[in-house]
Amino acid sequence: MKVNPIHTYTWVPLTIQEEEESILGIVKAEAEFVTDSEGNRWIDAIASWWTMIFGHRHPRLVAALYKQMEELDHVMLAGHIHPAAESLSKSLLELTNFDFHKVFYSDNGSNAIEIALKLAIQYYQNHPDLSPRSEFLVFSNSYHGDSIGAMNVSGKNYFNRIFSDLRFPTKEFPAPNCKHCPWGKVASSCSTECLNDLELEIKQKNYVGIVIEPLVFGANGMLFYDQKVLVKLRELATLTHTLLIFDEVFTGMGRLGTAFAYQKAETKPDILVMAKGLTGGMIPLGATLVSEFIYKQFISKDPYRAFFHAHTMTGNPLACSVGYASVQLLKEVGFELVKQLEVSLQNRIEPFQRKLGKRIENVRVMGGIFAFEYQEKIAEDEYLNPVGKRIRERMKEFRILLRPLGRTIYITPPYSISETSLDQIFLALEQTLLEFP
Ligand SMILES: Cc1ncc(COP(=O)(O)O)c(C=O)c1O
Repeated sequence: MKVNPIHTYTWVPLTIQEEEESILGIVKAEAEFVTDSEGNRWIDAIASWWTMIFGHRHPRLVAALYKQMEELDHVMLAGHIHPAAESLSKSLLELTNFDFHKVFYSDNGSNAIEIALKLAIQYYQNHPDLSPRSEFLVFSNSYHGDSIGAMNVSGKNYFNRIFSDLRFPTKEFPAPNCKHCPWGKVASSCSTECLNDLELEIKQKNYVGIVIEPLVFGANGMLFYDQKVLVKLRELATLTHTLLIFDEVFTGMGRLGTAFAYQKAETKPDILVMAKGLTGGMIPLGATLVSEFIYKQFISKDPYRAFFHAHTMTGNPLACSVGYASVQLLKEVGFELVKQLEVSLQNRIEPFQRKLGKRIENVRVMGGIFAFEYQEKIAEDEYLNPVGKRIRERMKEFRILLRPLGRTIYITPPYSISETSLDQIFLALEQTLLEFP
């Protein structure tokens, strides 16, 4: 297939520079489709990295953007406020049933994580009765972004090993993996044995916080785990006055069926981080939601207790107005769409497994996520397993956009994807995988 190489001047990310990977030129998009520079229509099966949850250029988001453009494009948020930021903050807090008290904006998931880490550290600095803390508890399969701080609290892996000298100290624990529980437990017999070491550690030493992606470790393997883990972490965090930080950059805004994963798990973090789905895939935006008891430690006339963090485009009105429209859509139709999508994905597990047999394993669905592993195992880093790239390239011939994580293949379509498009994705996956050895 001929693909238009329109990337002469742009350094395309996550791309090995001297490699024969075709770079696809995209010029248009609508609903779950993107159109390449030769006029071919493709299905965006992972919602452009999980962002455009209602499809590309949803008319409600486009309308919100136009309306906002006619009123206010941007004003710095330091010392100012505008209706778009206030409306979005209120609607986000409502979505959490006011489990949180304030919304702090940024412009992507990594920055929203940086803000969570800095707020958490400063909380201890500001607190009159607590001594400063500086170390975080993290998990091996987690991914929290590519900026230095976010990388630091992510699992140590192929992506960040080069920068290991820049790390501030963290204590990493193996990610809970309920499908292959090292203790051989199932949900009914599980006593969160996977947290035993963490429990010992957190009771011995003061940590700033526990940072975790609730219920699903996304970019580092699409690993699902039981909500009991989060309930136990909550208990340990409360006991030791450690802050619990949930990174819902991926799971938030309905991806798992509830507005946020923490609601599905019936436990609450102290800080909640979101981005991706909040943007509707249109304008970059991140948000860090903070509990009242944390915010209280920043209420002071003392400038040294203020939180000095801002990005130039923080709280951009265009981004906030699209975010607000995205939240409204989620409430109006989003939850119902994810429910239908989940049923449709569940119904596809059995026939998919029947057709592909031992070629695939651990087929799983949660909300709007369908994931499985291709059988081929290699010793080196899973992400570098070449099978992922081979599958991605072959799927291009069916005009389906996928980004497997090594041998972990997943689809995370917009909630609004049609059954016809899902049929096409599954047919292409089956044909591709049946051809493989
Ligand atoms: C759970 C999680 N946190 C943080 C990030 C970083 O977000 P961004 O790419 O917007 O910086 C990602 C990105 O994939 C993510 O999946």
